This record gives sequence, C-alpha cells and structure tokens, in this order.
Amino acid sequence: MDIKVNGVNREFKGDPNTPLLWVLRDHLNITSLKFGCGQGLCGACSAHVDGKLTRTCVTACDELEGRNLTTLEGLAPRLSQALKSAWIQVDVPQCGYCQTGMIMAAAALLDKNPKPSDEEITAAMNKNICRCGTYSRIRRAIHIAAKELA
Ligand code: FES
Ligand code: FES
Repeated sequence: MDIKVNGVNREFKGDPNTPLLWVLRDHLNITSLKFGCGQGLCGACSAHVDGKLTRTCVTACDELEGRNLTTLEGLAPRLSQALKSAWIQVDVPQCGYCQTGMIMAAAALLDKNPKPSDEEITAAMNKNICRCGTYSRIRRAIHIAAKELA
C-alpha cells in the first residue's frame, strides 16, 4: 500500500494492520518517534494525521489511506524552528525520550491555539508522559515559541 508521509508517497508491502510506529521506524527509517507503552497512553510515538495528534503505536497502517502523516521531520519550517529554538533556550530535555511526542503535541496545540494559557497548555499536553518531569520547562518553551510565532 502507499502511504503519504511528510508530503511524500511511500510504499509499504507488509501487513496493513501493522502499527504505523513500526512502519515508520522499521521500514521507512524515521526513528524520531519512540516506543513507550505501545498502548496509546504515553505519547512518545506521536505524529500528526491530517494535523491531528495521533498515537502511531495504536494506529494501523491502513488507517492512513488517503490521509497525510506528518512526523517531527515534516513540521512546517517556521513552526519547527520556533519550537526547536524555544526548546534549546529553556534546555527542556533531560533523557529526551519523550521529547518528540512533546514537540508534536505542542505543534498541534499552537496550530489551533496560537496563544495558549498555562491551563490550556496543561490540558493539551497532559496525555504525554515525561518520566524525567520536564513539564514546567515544556510549558515555558511553548510560551516562548508562541511569542516567536505571533
Ligand atoms: S508508545 Fe504510543 S502512546 Fe505510548
Ligand atoms: S525527558 Fe526523559 S522522559 Fe521526558
């Protein structure tokens, strides 16, 4: 089957029920997304499907038919740059394992809400788990990115 990833049609010849996470990591060599829980609970595997935050560990490959998948590598350049520079400025990551998912959740939030409050950030991000507890730095970085994009 053909799947569209970061604007490019890619071919996958395996089982259409394969979770997208494994198609991306093992077949397309896009390894920014991480395996955390495999049950849709932690957010480490997050990408966007038609702009919506999606857990790729519990999304079958064939659900992507006719839709666009965006990973960290395919974010719009201005948004990507603002998030990257805010993340560096605040020195957000500790081990880094959750951070791709965090940035994808932040990107989905800023796309819909360019100036989120603390409460809105918490509500949007609270399904992404960081075992290192970087939540307050993430909140600060999102505010900085929002200002940069305004
Ligand atoms: S690995 Fe997908 S939500 Fe945890
Ligand atoms: S930075 Fe280590 S899990 Fe989030």
